[in-house]
Amino acid sequence: MKKNKVLVGASILSEDFFDIQKTLKKINSSDLDFVHLDVMDGVFVPNISFGPAFVKNIRPYSKKFFDVHLMLSDPIKYVEKFVEAGADAISVHVEAKKALQSIKLIKSFGVKCGIVLNPKTSAKKIKKYLKIVDYVMVMTVEPGFGGQKFMEKQLGKISKISDMIKKSGRKILLSVDGGINLDTAKLSVKNGVNVLVCGSFLFKQKNFNDTVKKLKLA
Ligand code: DX5
Ligand code: ZN
Repeated sequence: MKKNKVLVGASILSEDFFDIQKTLKKINSSDLDFVHLDVMDGVFVPNISFGPAFVKNIRPYSKKFFDVHLMLSDPIKYVEKFVEAGADAISVHVEAKKALQSIKLIKSFGVKCGIVLNPKTSAKKIKKYLKIVDYVMVMTVEPGFGGQKFMEKQLGKISKISDMIKKSGRKILLSVDGGINLDTAKLSVKNGVNVLVCGSFLFKQKNFNDTVKKLKLA
């Protein structure tokens, strides 16, 4: 039986923002499915990245789907701004304030919505979200920085969530974010993942698109 290809997105967090057009060009001419944009407020995570103006500015330079990952303690205030900036999908953390309301708001704009769980958060916390979300994203590093090591301990939770999704009867994608390389991609897919977010490993590769293709076949 032929294996289904997984969707692969590039996290640009560890890239040089001054030279972002170069990065976007590289992504445009690759087989990547989406660009993953990490938004951090310095409160929910110990780092600050960029806001809606940055997303809006780079939008014309990319033909790929924009997946915006909000690492914000109070995301609801910013949802509309990211929709206006050109987000195709927006995810919020289950640990954030008014997560369910934020998800409903994202959906009301006709944008894909996702719920994200930190490594310490248990699978059962997202149960009620399975009625509404388009994707679940499991953090396989503590959010805040790129280039960290994949937490293998998360695999049990990933396979549990994969079962919960099957039981829901809804078409929900299961994604992982943090520490993805060819090995951890395979481990994740084995446990039910069908969307991979990959940052520093991918951008370190000499042959960028070959690596994208390999990840898609993980
Ligand atoms: C971490 C971010 C991730 C991260 C992925 O807070 O949400 O998207 O940048 O980068 P790598 O693949 O380097 O772990
Ligand atoms: Zn992310």
